[in-house]
Amino acid sequence: MSVGPSRDTISWETSDSSNVAQIEMTQPTTSAGFPSIRLRRLRSNPRLRDLVRETELNPRDFILPLFVRHGQNQRVPIRSMPGHDQMTVDHLPREIDEIASLGIPAVILFGIPEHKDAVGSDAYAANGVIQQAVRAIKATRSDVLVMTDVCFCEFTDHGHCGIVNDKHGHADVDNDATLEILVKEAVAQCLAGADLIAPSGMMDGMIAALRSGLDTAGFENIPIMSYAAKYASAFYGPFRDAAESAPQFGDRRSYQMDPANAAEALREVALDVAEGADILMVKPALSYLDVIRRVKQAHPEIPLAAYNVSGEFSMVKAAAANGWIDEQRITLEILTSIKRAGADMILTYFAKDAAKWLA
Ligand code: PBG
Repeated sequence: MSVGPSRDTISWETSDSSNVAQIEMTQPTTSAGFPSIRLRRLRSNPRLRDLVRETELNPRDFILPLFVRHGQNQRVPIRSMPGHDQMTVDHLPREIDEIASLGIPAVILFGIPEHKDAVGSDAYAANGVIQQAVRAIKATRSDVLVMTDVCFCEFTDHGHCGIVNDKHGHADVDNDATLEILVKEAVAQCLAGADLIAPSGMMDGMIAALRSGLDTAGFENIPIMSYAAKYASAFYGPFRDAAESAPQFGDRRSYQMDPANAAEALREVALDVAEGADILMVKPALSYLDVIRRVKQAHPEIPLAAYNVSGEFSMVKAAAANGWIDEQRITLEILTSIKRAGADMILTYFAKDAAKWLA
């Protein structure tokens, strides 16, 4: 059969970030009018599909969130997050061994303290629940990275992410007063042995304050992963049950971002880069894949994390429990799409399941 390029030109629009380009391509056809470029050729064989795959998931990409509870010898199942428990510190060594054996390199800790107060003092107490947890994990497996969430919502009696006052005529989180206790919290976590801190409170100037506070305390080598673009999202619902951290009045819209905004995320991220963030994060992940992509394009040189949050997890679990979806395929497809969008690492409650499926 003779082959010759025809003059049929196909064109389409591609929209990537703000660039809209017209791409023109000539589709060569055989003289009989059939396509001579056939993309299906590379899909015909599973070995070939492996060779041309662009995005590969690996348990090494995962960071598993853990909920550490005050008290002893308790594992309290989290109703809305099947397979996840609040666990007391004594349960951590066994849990960490399992996590390490699955090839998951890191955990991020959230705490449920015995006592909450207006300033969340358990968060920076030398023997606070998180500090105890960090020491227990590091004593068991020094090779598992221990990341700590730096925030106050789990530790305050009002459930907000910092110190609340009403100096502006209505109750709101006081940005600059909160920066001071965020530094105290991060230093306490580092003194306990945290390997990386992850501030999630969306306070302005948070990264600069923490960087200089850590450096002053001698922790200049501890990296900061900033929850740089964190949205005021309904997808955090199950987490607030898990961490017992729902705000007791109002909501978090005066500090977390409006889901409608993406350009603003680039400003948040650029500020955090300027202030010295080592790793950036977009949160949640699935409804914000466009933000992940734009942040990666704006800062390709900086490692990017995405937080596949509690609601994103629980929806899959609920549908799977009803037999409506294929849990394994859906989960791996979701995690792959987060990486494909541009994330280098993923905080996910699916970490253990996915690591087993990938093994
Ligand atoms: C603390 C924090 C939250 C999450 C992570 N860190 C809750 C919130 O902002 O209300 C949510 C994580 C999830 O939903 O999985 N500020």
